[in-house]
Amino acid sequence: MQPSQSGGPSTPRLWWSDAICYQVYIRSFADSDADGVGDLDGVRSRLGYLELLGVDALWITPCYPSPMADHGYDVADPRDIDPLFGDLAAFDSLVAASHEHGIRLIIDLVPNHTSDQHEWFQTALNSAPGSPERDRYIFRYGQGDDGAAPPNNWPSQFGGPAWTRVTEPHGQPGQWYLHLFAPEQPDLNWSHPDVWADLEKTLRFWLDRGVDGFRIDVAHGMAKPHGLPTAPPDAFGLLDGGSQPDVRFDHDGVHEVHRMLRSVINEYPDRVLVGEIWVSDDDRFSRYLRSDELHLGFNFRLTTAKFEADEIRASIEHSLEAVSRVGAPPTWTLSNHDVARPVTRLGGGELGLRRARALALVELGLPGTIFVYNGEELGLPSVDLPDEALQDPVWERSGHTRRGRDAHRVPVPWEGSAPDYGFTDGNTTWLPMPDTWQGLTVEAQLEDARSTLSLYRHALEIRRGHPGFAGDELEWYGAPDGCFAYRRPGSTLVCALNTSSVTVPLPPGDPLIASAPLAEDGQLPPDTAVWLA
Ligand code: GLC
Repeated sequence: MQPSQSGGPSTPRLWWSDAICYQVYIRSFADSDADGVGDLDGVRSRLGYLELLGVDALWITPCYPSPMADHGYDVADPRDIDPLFGDLAAFDSLVAASHEHGIRLIIDLVPNHTSDQHEWFQTALNSAPGSPERDRYIFRYGQGDDGAAPPNNWPSQFGGPAWTRVTEPHGQPGQWYLHLFAPEQPDLNWSHPDVWADLEKTLRFWLDRGVDGFRIDVAHGMAKPHGLPTAPPDAFGLLDGGSQPDVRFDHDGVHEVHRMLRSVINEYPDRVLVGEIWVSDDDRFSRYLRSDELHLGFNFRLTTAKFEADEIRASIEHSLEAVSRVGAPPTWTLSNHDVARPVTRLGGGELGLRRARALALVELGLPGTIFVYNGEELGLPSVDLPDEALQDPVWERSGHTRRGRDAHRVPVPWEGSAPDYGFTDGNTTWLPMPDTWQGLTVEAQLEDARSTLSLYRHALEIRRGHPGFAGDELEWYGAPDGCFAYRRPGSTLVCALNTSSVTVPLPPGDPLIASAPLAEDGQLPPDTAVWLA
């Protein structure tokens, strides 16, 4: 039995336990200064929209000074703002304005690595092997007589080896440093006290500025296996976790880092920690959510489940099972800036959109914390970008064999009938926008009752107000093949999904909202979900 997060029936409900959190990929949300890249003032200018949509909190992706080798996940200074996105004054204004709109603000924290332009790494390069300065990162001698082979066979998540050799201060080829991601993202050594002290300083810096929490990047990555062992090729996953444990991730030492984060954040009431945890084993996953660690963990099962009732149900049950061991709220995610958009993943075109809408209703009916990635509420697809537009390091690092994540990061279309659809006042956008998106803009969808945006708004409104959503448990009805229906025990509100190819009868109840029109006889068509009360 693991220690549990909920302190019993008298514990007050925490704001995040059933919150709708909206992920803003800052580069792609709204551009206020006409340079074609979204920024903090752009986010602030759209808070009215987010309030109308009905979100409780924003998670904004990293906006720290960065050479942008991985679009901000390579942090050169964790306690400032990159001029591309604004400055500290713009950040403070965003915090204040979000709070005026009743929206909390969660920011991204990147403890696993820094940028190679971080002062520490530059100092490490200019210091001798074995020096304390070098020891803030993971430097090792290579294999072979001349040390010309990497210290082990680990691949980088983005392709190529996870090691890069440096030139020593005296001009000779020398040690190698570890980077689980791009070479511009050297991994920190979490055995070094400076690394701990600096993260604590960073936490307090932003907590004192009023942020409501942190999303912890690669929360399963900071502790490396003892001795950095060479491993069989199938011991490595890619960014999407896969179902195999990955030898580089999820080592027990990582929990000490989370305990430190929690002890700091406990001094600031009502702030939340949510971890990016690509760990598929329910028990291993649950450990991150023990009462002295993170409050929430991203569970990514729904981003990979096939559109089949049994598989979706299993994903939901696993997610619930994992958190129930420790009494933490479940979280639900259909997409983010790293994975394909649901419309595309579930078949593309009309079919993909239909299924994405159905899956959204299934998700929005579940107990727990929901993360909506910007553009998901518009039913945006991932975009087939031309080779020359690709910017994700994955494209180059994989020798042009993996296209990377740009397809899921195309800027949000706000209004008008041609690119840039109101995203910027400038002449370019950092990734090209399709010229077929006029029907997908916020403007076009706001007044259209059948739009995906209206589906989200309406569902969120019902979720907020309907007593049938009270309670943290789920029970399942018997249902025809390829279908399921669930409700909270004792509730009359039922969510039903049909992933089969035939129309099926519905459980009793009046339809409150459906992802597509019901059949004329009131039955549930294929690729459709409905809430009944
Ligand atoms: C996380 C981020 C991803 C980034 C990686 C390295 O997985 O979500 O975008 O590339 O960490 O920081």
